[in-house]
Amino acid sequence: MPATRPGARGAVVSGWGTALPEKVITNDELAATMDTSDEWIVARTGIRERRIGGSTVGLAVEAGRQAIEMAGLDPARIDGVVLATTSPDEQWGNAALVQNELGMRCGAFDVNAACSGFMYALITAHGMIAMGADRVLVIGAETLSRITDWDDRGTAPLFADGAGALVLESCEGPGQLLAWELDADGSALSILRSDVGGPIKMEGKEVFRRAVRIMVDSAQKSMRHAGVTADDIALIVPHQANIRIIDAACERLGIERERAAVVLDRTGNTSSASIPLALADALDHGRVKNGDLVLLVGFGGGMTAGSCILRWGGGLDA
Ligand code: COA
Repeated sequence: MPATRPGARGAVVSGWGTALPEKVITNDELAATMDTSDEWIVARTGIRERRIGGSTVGLAVEAGRQAIEMAGLDPARIDGVVLATTSPDEQWGNAALVQNELGMRCGAFDVNAACSGFMYALITAHGMIAMGADRVLVIGAETLSRITDWDDRGTAPLFADGAGALVLESCEGPGQLLAWELDADGSALSILRSDVGGPIKMEGKEVFRRAVRIMVDSAQKSMRHAGVTADDIALIVPHQANIRIIDAACERLGIERERAAVVLDRTGNTSSASIPLALADALDHGRVKNGDLVLLVGFGGGMTAGSCILRWGGGLDA
């Protein structure tokens, strides 16, 4: 799949925002209600605490508002809202609720590709800009706590709530997106699934095994399409599911862990929100400068995977 076509209208990120519920649940608090321990959860997942609460639309609105403010935009000038979520409040129209709440007048739609959702939404938004939109708000937002079985120690320690958002704006020149890759394999749906309404059911070991493989495969394809190598990547922003998955993927890709953005110790797995939350954290800590190559890579139920290479700032003033 594709390297961005030469001459396609480009985009850059002009703002970002995040939202996390106030309520923190530590591993010790979980261990008070189920047969687990802080030691086990930290050793097997890297997660120390997670945030629970709010609504998917409410978190999306908060993250989106921050991103629009940072971009310095009048919401009425935004041309589209793409909301990735696998835990919607409503069966449809969640993006439209965000659009209305933030005072936008534009197309708005939901995307569900499980934990790869933000990658699918981000690539779609770049496509909208290539086809003439000027400004698109891309959000990943989840309240997975509502579809988690709180009696299942195999899943309850992992999943949590949150949101992250980016504003994309059209720009002169080729823009930031050098290459991308989206993948899906419906034959593996059953190992990580949720009937409508939940709860999440998972064969953890099998998901782990495949996750490392499909993340590495997707990232390698994006790097190849972009004509870059692991050495060129300044920051990798992986889906935040398990620190051991991130470690294994980084090792196989030849990218040192110091170059990875990690927030899962504080957030748990927030599905569609995890990549924008980790990216925003890295940006807020000044870890990315114009011209840097950033590799985003996610995987999730379906099973789905997605990755892309961004040249931060679009490269014009690098
Ligand atoms: N606390 C304590 N013990 C637990 C436990 C918990 N929360 N969950 C499972 N165990 C036990 C198991 O019962 C098992 O005990 P046994 O050896 O007596 O049978 C032992 O720990 C090992 O279980 P296992 O499932 O093999 O552990 P694991 O090392 O594979 O870790 C996961 C489990 C879920 C953390 C891990 O498989 C994982 O992260 N998988 C990927 C999940 C993922 O990324 N999902 C989201 C995709 S978007």
